Amino acid sequence: MNITILGTGSVGQALAGKLSSLSHAITMGTRDVNASLAKKDNDGMGNPGVGKWIEQHSQVSLSEFSQSVKEETEIVIIALSGTVVMDVLKLVGEANLKDKLIIDISNPLDFSNGFPPTLFVCNDESLGELIQQQYPNSKVVKTLNTMSNAVMINPNVLEGDHSVFMSGDNADAKLQVETLLESFGWKSKNIIDLGNITTSRGTEMMLPLWVRLFGKLNTPYFNIHINQSKM
Ligand SMILES: NC(=O)c1ccc[n+]([C@@H]2O[C@H](COP(=O)([O-])OP(=O)(O)OC[C@H]3O[C@@H](n4cnc5c(N)ncnc54)[C@H](OP(=O)(O)O)[C@@H]3O)[C@@H](O)[C@H]2O)c1
Repeated sequence: MNITILGTGSVGQALAGKLSSLSHAITMGTRDVNASLAKKDNDGMGNPGVGKWIEQHSQVSLSEFSQSVKEETEIVIIALSGTVVMDVLKLVGEANLKDKLIIDISNPLDFSNGFPPTLFVCNDESLGELIQQQYPNSKVVKTLNTMSNAVMINPNVLEGDHSVFMSGDNADAKLQVETLLESFGWKSKNIIDLGNITTSRGTEMMLPLWVRLFGKLNTPYFNIHINQSKM
């Protein structure tokens, strides 16, 4: 499939690498292609600068946000800092997003007051819903935002069963996302369709717990397993 990933950070890189290894055609969206290509140093978490990463993944193309989603694009994945999602989607343009499946992995984390971050939307609203409201002719599915990127693209990195959630209004779009998740190695029984896009309030509000677990366990290699009784 023809997939555009908005975002060049660790999530964008992980997904672009995985999806291109599965033979999808991948474009990554960024603010400034030349500035991104010049980023060669690792970040604080040891992830390579996107310029270095692209050198190692020449099958992935890099494009400015406004040019990154084309008519032939079938899926748009949001892997952006939550605070800039609405601004970047505006650059991409409503016409380019019309009728497209938008997979939203971003979280509404606000680091402006340091650590731990707070949520800039929560309780009776969510980033997933804001995107769907702003782009009613697109099909938004929120998923994968509750785990680290290493687990997203390779669930078998953890032993045993663990869960991934999906929220979205469009049943066909969620089926498409389920197929994509299964191609990453997710077992169907571990993919939990929570319901419509308002259910992304719940998964976004898991982030304060994720952040604290990360601090406690000192590793991104963990996830939550919903152990459901048959009774
Ligand atoms: N890290 C994880 O394992 C993980 C796990 C689950 C969910 N998430 C969520 O996934 C999203 C992406 O996370 P990440 O760590 O990969 O990347 P990130 O650092 O949160 O975001 C990187 C992207 O944001 C863009 N960006 C930053 N400031 C901008 C601005 N002022 N205007 C326009 N674009 C701007 C950057 O553009 P340039 O390309 O131009 O630099 C880059 O493409 C976040 O919402 C995060 O909460 C992350």
